[in-house]
Amino acid sequence: MANIVILGAQWGDEGKGKVIDIFTRKVDFVVRYQGGNNAGHTVVIDNDEFILHLIPSGILHKRKICIIGNGVVVDPKALLDEIGMLKKRGIDVDGRLLVSENAHVIFPYHRRLDELKEAKRRKIGTTKKGIGPCYADKVARSGIRVADLLDPVVLKEKLLNNLEEKNAILDKIYGVSGFSFEELYSEYLDYAKEIRKYVCNTTVVLNDAIKKKKRILFEGAQGTLLDVDHGTYPFVTSSNSTAGGASTGTGIGPTKIGKVIGVVKAYTTRVGEGPFPTEFTKDLMERIRQKGKEFGATTGRPRRCGWFDSVIVNHSVMVNGIDEIVVTKLDVLDDLDSIKICTAYKFEGKTYNEFPTNGRVLAGCEPVYEELPGWKEDTTKVISYLKLPGNARNYLRRIQNLLKPRIVLISVGCDRKQTFSKDA
Ligand code: IMP
Repeated sequence: MANIVILGAQWGDEGKGKVIDIFTRKVDFVVRYQGGNNAGHTVVIDNDEFILHLIPSGILHKRKICIIGNGVVVDPKALLDEIGMLKKRGIDVDGRLLVSENAHVIFPYHRRLDELKEAKRRKIGTTKKGIGPCYADKVARSGIRVADLLDPVVLKEKLLNNLEEKNAILDKIYGVSGFSFEELYSEYLDYAKEIRKYVCNTTVVLNDAIKKKKRILFEGAQGTLLDVDHGTYPFVTSSNSTAGGASTGTGIGPTKIGKVIGVVKAYTTRVGEGPFPTEFTKDLMERIRQKGKEFGATTGRPRRCGWFDSVIVNHSVMVNGIDEIVVTKLDVLDDLDSIKICTAYKFEGKTYNEFPTNGRVLAGCEPVYEELPGWKEDTTKVISYLKLPGNARNYLRRIQNLLKPRIVLISVGCDRKQTFSKDA
């Protein structure tokens, strides 16, 4: 099997955790390449639910090596908490978890600035985990990397420099008190002691693995429409969640990645602010939210819900080079009399078949819908494509026609067993 990227083709929360878990059996390495603990990947194994924010979900499989790549931003406290949670539940990560020395480190001032920016400036609806401010420091070349964290001399110098600037911003722009160098330095030196054993040059490890014909799964976090370049900017996260990020976020050449699998929900959701053309009206929103348990795995916030939008997913197919599609949460639509699919947008008399990059157009556009009959049957116990109600197959066929890449898997519930191939 080729090295694969599995990513979200909408605004995140497509059910990637479960899909990644299924494909993990066929690979040797599972790698996170972007984002941080803003992600929440849920995997249910025999009614046991695991929510992973930072560590690749492959860790739930005994012999898999899991890597946090250079493109990820690491909050050391969140990492140690997650390692602790896994150990408590009988999953040992030692020897199987590797963290890139080039990954950037999240500090409390990143979280504080994230919160203050959300409260006092433009609201994006972030997870307030400090993700944006940490990536901003990375790009500004003032960030502190994991390798720096492990070197007390470098950490001291960089932390002093950063605190001088951050404390001035906190005081002068936001009117709040800053952070003490002594306290942060000592706290982070303690983290360094605990994290050291996981840290290495993961780029070399991964390239060696490829030479040895080991198989790698790149686990995307968030979703394509949250990508800082290709998403609904500025209502995005601060990393490249698209397939290209798998290369830059790990140090693997693009020629070494063989396949991109896009995960789509049978409808659409998004968390946080920003345009959402197919968003439901209140009643339907509440109904689908409850049935689909659409509450954020990281923040618990209610997710906004809407009809399937082929314009945004086609954009994802294009910018990621998606080869195959997995459709999740089909069962959430089981009770509906009829189901809409958005096939284009209309704005000021013009029809848009392609995703408009102009935020004003996207915010003001009217979706053009096709309406299909619902199936009004429980699909949660269905175990093969041919056993799905006819109208559910019609719905999937229409989605496939609109998107082009083959639908390879369909999911009708949280459990690993509630998944089947379209071809079987
Ligand atoms: P940030 O990544 O915390 O900066 O948040 C930026 C935007 O991305 C906000 O709209 C968040 O709700 C959204 N976001 C971040 N992580 C996730 C995720 O894992 N799933 C869905 N939305 C996310």
